[in-house]
Amino acid sequence: MARLETPEALESFRQEILSRRDPDSPCVSICAGAGCVASGADEVIAAFEKEIEAKGLSATVSTKGTGCPGFCEQGPVVVIYPEEICYLQVQAKDVPEIVAQTIENKQVVERLCFKDPATGERAVKESDIPFYRSQQRTVLCNNIKIDSKRIEDYLALGGYAALAKALGQMTDLEVLEEVKKSNIRGRGGAGFPAGRKWEGSRNAEEPIKYVIVNADEGDPGAFMDRAIHDQCLVNEPFGLILGGYAVSP
Ligand code: FES
Repeated sequence: MARLETPEALESFRQEILSRRDPDSPCVSICAGAGCVASGADEVIAAFEKEIEAKGLSATVSTKGTGCPGFCEQGPVVVIYPEEICYLQVQAKDVPEIVAQTIENKQVVERLCFKDPATGERAVKESDIPFYRSQQRTVLCNNIKIDSKRIEDYLALGGYAALAKALGQMTDLEVLEEVKKSNIRGRGGAGFPAGRKWEGSRNAEEPIKYVIVNADEGDPGAFMDRAIHDQCLVNEPFGLILGGYAVSP
């Protein structure tokens, strides 16, 4: 990947990524969160890659290991786009059937769809599952669209545009003022305004500043910080690079 020096170069690279992607082509998203990995997601990802390759579908069908969509008790979770067909508790042995039925023949493998325990009804789409129906994902809205090993996924979704804007159009002080104005606060309990913390660091006499990300996973096994990191958010809108810029006068 070439070094991107300007906001224009970033935008042109983003357009190039998008031009290589057909939104109508099948994309198999497999949750690679800790819960699903513990239930066999790595084997499922490997089985999809092998089966897609063996069937000569690699040019038109993509796979990605994504962040956690939240339905961990039903993992490994597989969602096939663009139809958004959701399969639960998928194992590697199910993969040949999914590829043959759903990818090649556009048929749903009903036995792998969510079954309502009260009514016995099946839900094919992820958004039709009661667990998801009333959810509005904000912070984690993109983690199911991003394979954390591919920065292109984040760039395709407009990633780093805020950083390009800050570095290209704003001074470090303007970035700090913007964060202060937003009143964004910590969520650790104290609710302390981030802008005031940043200002304190900026005004400190020491010439070298350090930006440290607290990625402590205080809730055992939840790995929520990792889920946020996985979609690159910490680097940009949440402030790792922007914070470094804003606290360095
Ligand atoms: S870890 Fe896969 S759904 Fe949460």
